[in-house]
Amino acid sequence: MERKPIFIKCAAQLLTVNGFSDRPAKKEEMNNLSIIEDGAVWIENGIIVKLGKTGELERFFAEKISQATIINAKGKVVLPGLIDPHTHLIHAGSREKEFQLRLAGAMYMEMMNKGWGIHATTEKTRAASIESLINEGLKRLDLFLSFGVTTVEAKSGYGLTWETEKKQLVAAGMINSLHPIDIVRTFMGAHAIPSEYKKKPEQYVNEVIETMIPRVAEDKLAEFNDVFCERGVFTPEQSRKILESGRGYGLIPKIHADEIEPYGGAELAAEVGAISADHLLKASEKGIQDLADQGVIAVLLPGTAFFLMTGMANARKMIESGVPIALATDCNPGSSPTCSLPFIMTLACLQMRLTPAEIITAVTINAAHAINRAHEIGSIEAGKKADITILNIPDFLQFFYFYGQNHTDCVIKNGKVVVKGGVLCKTYH
Ligand code: NIG
Ligand code: FE
Repeated sequence: MERKPIFIKCAAQLLTVNGFSDRPAKKEEMNNLSIIEDGAVWIENGIIVKLGKTGELERFFAEKISQATIINAKGKVVLPGLIDPHTHLIHAGSREKEFQLRLAGAMYMEMMNKGWGIHATTEKTRAASIESLINEGLKRLDLFLSFGVTTVEAKSGYGLTWETEKKQLVAAGMINSLHPIDIVRTFMGAHAIPSEYKKKPEQYVNEVIETMIPRVAEDKLAEFNDVFCERGVFTPEQSRKILESGRGYGLIPKIHADEIEPYGGAELAAEVGAISADHLLKASEKGIQDLADQGVIAVLLPGTAFFLMTGMANARKMIESGVPIALATDCNPGSSPTCSLPFIMTLACLQMRLTPAEIITAVTINAAHAINRAHEIGSIEAGKKADITILNIPDFLQFFYFYGQNHTDCVIKNGKVVVKGGVLCKTYH
């Protein structure tokens, strides 16, 4: 059925983030948001048809304007729907007791090695019904949407058996069809060595390679394959094997790299041609250079550093070296239990010293590249999906200045208004 056109007009600032659909923005390019003042966008059937100055579009569409839904964005900022390219969206339960122990001095990895951490969530996720995983996931997605996020990557990795990894990926697929936010799925069977394989880790690596990856590919359950490459979890050699085997089945590599210590994760990401290397708090100088040389996107997760009370990734050095940067929440129950991408953006600004414009690029077009979607989302350009967020502020600098507040006024997802006046038109859980 033909939908009514949507005409967004009079935007104080239209941040188009144009010109980087073919490759991610890097270095000084990340500051280039291609802003149109008094901007307007014409949308038909879920697709952006034209953008420009309000007067120009009013003249161009003069004959159709009376049939369109008009959104007056006077005094507001219009930008591409935000994209979160790294989450562990599907999981059961929470870990506030572990948090309390960490506040008293316990270390994240020590807790994991004692069977807490990822293992605790794995136990709960294995026991959870798929219905409850879907419902919890939908609740989180409603929160994401309220923050102006329109696409979310979701990893498995709290199953660590074929049945439960599959349950997580199927749940993510169901959520995709139940919620306006688009979900992009990543298989992460290599998130931890499950406790039943503690004494025989190589056997688990074989299980991932021989059983899980072929089935993920056969059932088309994911597009990406991620590994937690860290001392005490998966070694660089094991990670390489897992990522290369996934590649053979068409799964694009991603890596949780150098989160806790320098471990060669960034170097490995460059070597296997990963689409992104994520975390990178402790990435080596050589690792950063390798990422730049190979054009691997650094997905930085300042919420994780904040919540684990460690130093931030060296984002300025990465940008200077020419590494394209994206930002994400890492939404998970252990190291970053948040759905607030705006809070992550605040941390990136004040704690990592990214500029406001670099940050907008990092959560739009560069985030789209990190999940292989830059051809259809991440910028406001003719021909792209109409995923658009409108903020109730006249200048995007105020997004960072008035921190800790939700500025989302309106969200258009696939050409449909799903948030209006800061309120979800409908909740989905
Ligand atoms: O990205 N580092 C590994 N995985 C997650 C944390 C998972 C958890 O603690 O449950 C992360 O930080
Ligand atoms: Fe993560």
